[in-house]
Amino acid sequence: MLKSHPKALTQCEPPSLDWSRPGTPAATDFDDIYFSVDGGTEETRTVFLGGCGLPDGWAGKMLYTIGELGFGSGLNFLTTWQMWEQASPHICAKTARLHFISIEKHPFSAAQLEQALNAWPELSDYAAQLISAWPERVKGFHRLHFGRVTLTLIHDDIANALEALDAQVDAWFLDGFSPKKNPHMWSTNIMTKLASLSADGARLATFTVAGSVRQALSEAGFQTEKKTGFGRKRHRLEARFIPAHKPAKPQRSKPSLIPTIIGTGIGGASLARAFMRRGIKPRIVSRGNKHAASGNAAALVKPRFDLQDRPESRFYLASYLYALQAYGKTDAILSHGVTQFPKTENEFTRFVKLAAQAALPLTHFHLNNDILSLPQSLTVSPQKLIAAFTQKLEITTETISHLDEIDGPVFAAMGYGIKSIFNSGLPKLRFSRGQISWAKAADNIKTPMSYGGYVIPFDNKCLIGATHDAVCGDAPYVVKPEDDRRNFEAFSNIMRYDLTPDLSEPSRASIRVTTPDTLPMILTPKPNQYILTGLGSRGFVFAPLLAEAIVSHWLGEPLPIEKKVWARFGPR
Ligand SMILES: Cc1cc2nc3c(=O)[nH]c(=O)nc-3n(C[C@H](O)[C@H](O)[C@H](O)COP(=O)(O)OP(=O)(O)OC[C@H]3O[C@@H](n4cnc5c(N)ncnc54)[C@H](O)[C@@H]3O)c2cc1C
Ligand SMILES: C[S@@+](CC[C@H](N)C(=O)[O-])C[C@H]1O[C@@H](n2cnc3c(N)ncnc32)[C@H](O)[C@@H]1O
Repeated sequence: MLKSHPKALTQCEPPSLDWSRPGTPAATDFDDIYFSVDGGTEETRTVFLGGCGLPDGWAGKMLYTIGELGFGSGLNFLTTWQMWEQASPHICAKTARLHFISIEKHPFSAAQLEQALNAWPELSDYAAQLISAWPERVKGFHRLHFGRVTLTLIHDDIANALEALDAQVDAWFLDGFSPKKNPHMWSTNIMTKLASLSADGARLATFTVAGSVRQALSEAGFQTEKKTGFGRKRHRLEARFIPAHKPAKPQRSKPSLIPTIIGTGIGGASLARAFMRRGIKPRIVSRGNKHAASGNAAALVKPRFDLQDRPESRFYLASYLYALQAYGKTDAILSHGVTQFPKTENEFTRFVKLAAQAALPLTHFHLNNDILSLPQSLTVSPQKLIAAFTQKLEITTETISHLDEIDGPVFAAMGYGIKSIFNSGLPKLRFSRGQISWAKAADNIKTPMSYGGYVIPFDNKCLIGATHDAVCGDAPYVVKPEDDRRNFEAFSNIMRYDLTPDLSEPSRASIRVTTPDTLPMILTPKPNQYILTGLGSRGFVFAPLLAEAIVSHWLGEPLPIEKKVWARFGPR
């Protein structure tokens, strides 16, 4: 059988916008408009929110999930968010959450969003928050948090996106362009996928009552009803998912048991943050970060790039964007911007291909002569970051020798400590010792540079790292002078000049945990036990989104990553 050739990872195709029509942007390639010229927000409130019985349907719910087909200008999302802010304090518990999932094949740019949303001054605060977190046209899943409202954007074609989604949806907003102009979004195949993602009794609303749409919905198990339409449209449609032959889906509820996190590295701290944002206060136990991989004075947060469009390549970019959002709100940022030098001719050729494919927008990454410039990459202080993510939480200093010692649900991110908790059955992991060294400040090093190794200027000196060696012997944390020499040599070999060692700062060794395929790993040895491991050399990039995925999974919330990626990483 012929193997299918993987596609190049690029950004989504842009929309073809026409701004000349009064009251709404239009898409020239679909010859249709984004929202009603009789009043966009009113249309949203009548057709979609009212059509799904909202806000009343939120009453008493701890978790409510809306799925939208066609994010467009985000007007439906912002109007929903506004209604949630106004209504939920009166009808929902304080910790209730709204998940809004939206699929879009041709995402607007931030500037286009701004232009479209300027027409709605009453939504300007919401729009500003959306625009500042906007992932541009980067492909795949993007999770954005706005207080108790969580937006999961899926930048992809509708069919792929629904296939990749793991969620239980309470209400659907069907807002593709009209079925005549955009039939792909209204097919029986799509409606069947919606049914498979629907909670029992899920509501559905749309502006069209086209016979083909009603037929497709009813074949998929939705009971439809025509209602009086909005503006110049005579009718609109409401529907309910009443499955004929489906077993009832498990009820979602917030587990009442208090979770325990093991570890205060970036993995444990990110888990704590994911719980805290949901109003769940976890317990934390740790033996401290003296030897933790997360215990260096600085860490780089820069993207891992892949030329091919694979689910994990999209995850690399999404986790990077998510980490930038998460860290941007802390006081842990030491500097912005990293330059990456090619180690070899081949690597330079790869840089050229990456720049041509531009999976991230130019604001994130471009080639400058033969050097990759990553203007938004960060240097962070791990210590400050971990303190910010675990503030207000009590941390017990303790060494855990087995997960079963802990009562209740346990979430472990133990770095190298994973080795001692498995008597047998330790998954295939590699342990790689890394040493960092210190150099005196150098005039020509103003921003962090990466070249296989890396050098980070801060506090009037430079951190230089790091070695990669298999762990051997029983004193892996003891510093080796020859490793300092290797760090300096690695720098000089690429940069063609020498740095001066700064002996006033001690070098430090710690251990990375890596899987054979270099992907992160999520283990679930028993129900209610999760282990986050295999963060390799990119823990500060991967941990926040993986922690969000683990906590979402435990709570039965929509996953923030593709089903296939979740299946590849875990739970095993
Ligand atoms: C030299 C070096 C440089 C690096 N530079 C970068 C970088 O610039 N950017 C980047 O993204 N990544 C970098 N990494 C990788 C990154 O540091 C790791 O991926 C990340 O720190 C792993 O985080 P973690 O929380 O899984 O583990 P760790 O940070 O190792 O934390 C493990 C935690 O678990 C606790 N623990 C372990 N066992 C037990 C037990 N039995 N009982 C109780 N508590 C326990 C420990 O006390 C600790 O708090 C680097 C790694 C190394 C070694
Ligand atoms: C009517 S507009 C949506 C308006 C939007 N809900 C809003 O609030 O502005 C329809 C959207 O569907 C998107 N779309 C069209 N075909 C698609 C497909 N195959 N997959 C995903 N989205 C698609 C369009 O790009 C467009 O943004």
